[in-house]
Amino acid sequence: MTEEQLSPAQPEESIDALTALATTRTIRRYTSDPIPKEDLGRILWHATRAPSGSNRQPVRYLVLTDGRKATEAKHLLGEAFRRGWSAKVRGDGYDSGSGLDPASPKARQARAMQEYVDNFERIPVVVLVCLVRYREPNPYEGASVYPACQNLLLAARALGYGGALTMWHQGVDEELHQLLEIPDDVALSACITLGRPRGGHGPVRRRPLKDVVFDDTWGEMASWVDDPDGTRYASGGPT
Ligand SMILES: Cc1cc2nc3c(=O)[nH]c(=O)nc-3n(C[C@H](O)[C@H](O)[C@H](O)COP(=O)(O)O)c2cc1C
Repeated sequence: MTEEQLSPAQPEESIDALTALATTRTIRRYTSDPIPKEDLGRILWHATRAPSGSNRQPVRYLVLTDGRKATEAKHLLGEAFRRGWSAKVRGDGYDSGSGLDPASPKARQARAMQEYVDNFERIPVVVLVCLVRYREPNPYEGASVYPACQNLLLAARALGYGGALTMWHQGVDEELHQLLEIPDDVALSACITLGRPRGGHGPVRRRPLKDVVFDDTWGEMASWVDDPDGTRYASGGPT
């Protein structure tokens, strides 16, 4: 993977689908540039190309930019994100162990997160991705929403923007329903922040393919898979 492929796409520069898949990662630092409505429309159109069960298309996108209610909602969200992050700092030990070494990846990640939540209200675009429920809440209902979320992030990347899919809106779910007049049968499935990336960002890091692909039987390593040269790794999750 070349350095070029790792950096955010420039406006008007097109990247092929596999490069977008290989390089789209969470972007939490943005410039203050607004996203022109035309680009926002294109991003959302590509999100709506995603599949849903029986093509019911239960996803709605509530876009918050700089309107009166949007500003109020962003403030509510900012407070919730700051609370969410400070709970994670304590819960995941960002303020202990290797997190105390300012040069450690953990400390770097913590600084980026702190900056993200501190500047939440200045993020150019926030999209609440909503599910219009057509049956009782169930563990699989997200299956018709999250393909659209990923399409949205990939389209943003292709147009030179970056985003983060987050869940910290849950702390103010009720308040958002009330403020934005969202019906009770509509679930807020994700909160996606978007903007023009500020600074560079590193490569996507994941577990090796051999750890996660089984052949024929659970736990049987698939000998025929291999990561391409230059793949970067990160551990995490179940072993
Ligand atoms: C279901 C889901 C929930 C997430 N929730 C949050 C969140 O609440 N806050 C946040 O900052 N990032 C959130 N993320 C982003 C992940 O932290 C991020 O994708 C992951 O650490 C991998 O980093 P990368 O995308 O840069 O490779 C979430 C991602 C997913 C898919």
